[in-house]
Amino acid sequence: MKATLNPYNPGAGVPPPELAGRDELIEHARVAVVRAKAGRPAKSSIMLGLRGVGKTVLLNHFEAIAEDEGCQTALLEIDPDKPLAHQLAPQLQHILHRLDRMKKAGADVQKAFGSLRSFAAMFKATVGDVDFSFAAPAATGDLAVDLTDLFIAIAEAAKKRDTAIVLLIDEIQYIQKGDLSALIMALHKISQRQLPLLMFGAGLPQLAKLAGDAKSYAERLFDYPPIGPLSDEGARQALASPAEREKVKYAPDALDYVVEQTGRYPFFLQVWGQHCWEAAAKSPITLADAKTASIAATAALDEGIFKVRLARLTERQKAYARAMAEFGPEPVNSSDVANALNLSLSQAAPIRDELIKKGMAYSPERGLIGFTVPKFDDYLRRMPASKPAKRTAKS
Ligand SMILES: Nc1ncnc2c1ncn2[C@@H]1O[C@H](COP(=O)(O)OP(=O)(O)OP(=O)(O)O)[C@@H](O)[C@H]1O
Ligand SMILES: [Mg+2]
Repeated sequence: MKATLNPYNPGAGVPPPELAGRDELIEHARVAVVRAKAGRPAKSSIMLGLRGVGKTVLLNHFEAIAEDEGCQTALLEIDPDKPLAHQLAPQLQHILHRLDRMKKAGADVQKAFGSLRSFAAMFKATVGDVDFSFAAPAATGDLAVDLTDLFIAIAEAAKKRDTAIVLLIDEIQYIQKGDLSALIMALHKISQRQLPLLMFGAGLPQLAKLAGDAKSYAERLFDYPPIGPLSDEGARQALASPAEREKVKYAPDALDYVVEQTGRYPFFLQVWGQHCWEAAAKSPITLADAKTASIAATAALDEGIFKVRLARLTERQKAYARAMAEFGPEPVNSSDVANALNLSLSQAAPIRDELIKKGMAYSPERGLIGFTVPKFDDYLRRMPASKPAKRTAKS
């Protein structure tokens, strides 16, 4: 079928042709935004899920909702190599400019600009020229205290303008630990004061534990909606609706097959959908087309995603990953992995931690380790190099 009409859109953070199966989450976010804007208590939330489940797409969608509702938004993807203050300051400045341009400009915005200026100076963050006349209290150098003051100043200015601030933070697991607890503390103060500042975060599943470690009340402060594969119905809709708009149908057994092959993971649904379109000569897409597509999709993932990820690992990390893969797709006990590699727990632990730090693996709970990319285990088991892996680790 015509490549120019292929509706599917596999990629990172790119909008799908059909945002299927997420209605409840979206409605939940909309309610929180509307409540915050009306000055009512609203809970921040952090979506947790593996690679390719659609977290970034949802954050972008929430941002659009917040903008539509008249909120001031800032969306940032955390860079693991930069302090949080450097990443937040320019975004907050942007918000302040927008508040300043709204009616009723006044001393409160000037005060917030002042706080931002001393915050940026203290944490050596770069912000554009800040024009303010208000002498703000100097920042203390304690991020938790200074970020709290800054959030309060900005949220108070927002409140006066009947708007709300909505921060959207992606890859939140990469926030450095001290920075994370400062962020949590600032949001905690904001919620105690019922100020209109809301955060939507997204990250890999180990984050809830990280946040809990950082501050015990973080568990109650946020909702942590798990983002996983779509429901059966959602997966079918994600595949069939975009095709239908181009007057193309799937044969029922073809649809069953693709749903099963993708494990209902959003990214895989886009990849498989794209290849089904390429494989089929005409509507309906048949089971034979879907099987051809599945081979092509797997090859494309191997080359485009899995190989690249594997290449980022050192030899001992590869050996660890391969040993993990032998246990299947679900998270496994890290002691079992250590055993399989003939390593003691303390010898294996640093390798496990390296894999977590690289975003390749995550620990859903103490002692367990799993891959952050679905089907990566399958790839490793299919690769011929999986055999000598154990020897490499011992040497
Ligand atoms: N609800 C959905 N229905 C159909 N396709 C979706 C849905 N959500 C996301 N997708 C598609 O899945 C792919 C991955 O989405 P996205 O980049 O948002 O995932 P992610 O969870 O942020 O992944 P990562 O952890 O790698 O950043 C994109 O191609 C996107 O279009
Ligand atoms: Mg993402």
